[in-house]
Amino acid sequence: MSTVIKNGTIVTADLTYKSDVKIEDGKIVEIGPDLSGDETLDATGCYVMPGGIDPHVHLEMPFMGTYSSDDFDSGTRAALAGGTTMVVDFCLPDPGQSLLEAITRWDNKSQRANCDYSFHMAITWWGEQVFNEMEAVVRDKGINTFKHFMAYKGALMVNDDEMFASFSRCAELGALPLVHAENGDVVATMQQKLLAEGNNGPEGHAYSRPAEVEGEATNRAIMIADMAGVPVYIVHTSCEQSHEAIRRARQNGIRVYGEPLIQHLTLDESEYFDKDWDHSARRVMSPPFRNKKHQDSLWAGLQAGSLQVVATDHCAFTTDQKRYGVGDFTKIPNGTGGLEDRLPMLWTYGVNTGRLTPNEFVAVTSTNIAKILNMYPKKGAIMVGADADIVVLDPNKEKTISAGAQQSAIDYNVFEGKHVKGLPRFTLTRGKVAIYDGEVRTEEGHGKFVKREPFQAVNKALSTWKELVAPRPVERTGIPPSGV
Ligand code: URP
Ligand code: ZN
Ligand code: ZN
Ligand code: ZN
Repeated sequence: MSTVIKNGTIVTADLTYKSDVKIEDGKIVEIGPDLSGDETLDATGCYVMPGGIDPHVHLEMPFMGTYSSDDFDSGTRAALAGGTTMVVDFCLPDPGQSLLEAITRWDNKSQRANCDYSFHMAITWWGEQVFNEMEAVVRDKGINTFKHFMAYKGALMVNDDEMFASFSRCAELGALPLVHAENGDVVATMQQKLLAEGNNGPEGHAYSRPAEVEGEATNRAIMIADMAGVPVYIVHTSCEQSHEAIRRARQNGIRVYGEPLIQHLTLDESEYFDKDWDHSARRVMSPPFRNKKHQDSLWAGLQAGSLQVVATDHCAFTTDQKRYGVGDFTKIPNGTGGLEDRLPMLWTYGVNTGRLTPNEFVAVTSTNIAKILNMYPKKGAIMVGADADIVVLDPNKEKTISAGAQQSAIDYNVFEGKHVKGLPRFTLTRGKVAIYDGEVRTEEGHGKFVKREPFQAVNKALSTWKELVAPRPVERTGIPPSGV
């Protein structure tokens, strides 16, 4: 059974050209004019692009006394409806739990996925067992990325000594550390001060996490990674202070990546000052939304290349779950949705405004991610031999975002009422048509785990350089007699 996408314009991270695409057994087998196959998808007037990859999602995440409400079924259905064909979730061991045991739990949950997926491993505690198991995680389980939370004191947070030890281990294993960069000690102190002063509403969340706590932690993480001799990836970069630290480090030759979220690019801090408690609480996430100055910085970073990818950090809680924090904003589960909306929102606010070219759009939603996470060109490419994870985007198709029409399991959408133009006509996951002109044809369990190899080119280059400049005793021609 073969499928041909006909009459479209292929858009990759570096090329735009008219061609048909033929797919067999889940892979792209031919690219050229006048192709035919058993099934034809008409892409007239559309762009044929690598499906979106979301490098940062939390499906059914155990967090703040509850579980995020989109699981691997509803979450990946939402992804496909919005043109995203792969997600990367975070495997979170309990304190003291074996990393390998945690993977078994995540393997069970992910059996329901409608599209392909991979995992990052979180370092939630530190000890000899973690140090030892990191090797099996990389070598046997195909997970080459390790997440570190500098925030969430008393829960997921790790300290600087643990981070340095883990980063050093990542360097040895050819893995890439990821960091949630906020100064958890300062946040915890500010939270208590705000509560004591009677600031217990959702606006307290924003007040307790100013841009400085993120900028400081970002810089610290980058410097620690540099000392450990490993590249580093900063998740949900939301502000100029953090972007500035990344930009400066990159200009000094340090290998660091920055990941803005579609939420931070398009929603601002005024959401936390809404008169409606539910409205503001539904938008509580860390880091919080910021003002226009920060948004402009993030857009500029995508244009300049100092920020490389756009994610969602999809972590969806229902209104009832958000209400755990009535009277105490520190108990509002942190997280927002976005999986179905990332591509249409970025196309509308990025490409349709002229901030991004279509090729840059593909780079930041798919190709750069595949390269950084070391799964290119299996993913993130329209190329013979690549997986047929494809979005056929119709630039004239439009809608107004509404929770009533979404795939996500929650009862609201943070982008409610936004008008978007640029929507999938078709989404294909390994050749299977999952979205057909608005019709959802997803298949629970179709998704497969994607193993990722260590020692990406950047790790190799950096370890070669670090080895060259490593401390060495000077070979001297003459040693004077000892003074004693
Ligand atoms: O508020 C957020 N971002 N929730 C999800 C967990 C995390 O910090 O990424
Ligand atoms: Zn985070
Ligand atoms: Zn996250
Ligand atoms: Zn299938």
